[in-house]
Amino acid sequence: MPTIKIGKQLLTCIEGSNLRQVLLDNKIPLYNGPTRVLNCQGLGTCGTCAVEVQGPLSAPSLQEKLRGPLLKGRRLACQAQVLGDIRVVKYGGLWGLGQDVVEI
Ligand code: FES
Repeated sequence: MPTIKIGKQLLTCIEGSNLRQVLLDNKIPLYNGPTRVLNCQGLGTCGTCAVEVQGPLSAPSLQEKLRGPLLKGRRLACQAQVLGDIRVVKYGGLWGLGQDVVEI
């Protein structure tokens, strides 16, 4: 069962779980500011669920590939399946593309 380390939290999930869903199910603040309400609900179109991830995830989706360098190497949590133990960092900014780490 993969583990997800984010901030001081250590979560577990079933391999292949959607990263966005696991974070939301565990009340992790995945979205910043107004995007907590104004987001695409996991369709991969708004880009506001961007996170930095170390560890095994599914390959980038078409939506992520289309964003290319705009994602700064980060992943869209809604497009990623957890394939092993990972470490996740959420950054500030409307799209989670800022430089400051969000304390979780
Ligand atoms: S929730 Fe909109 S891109 Fe992930």
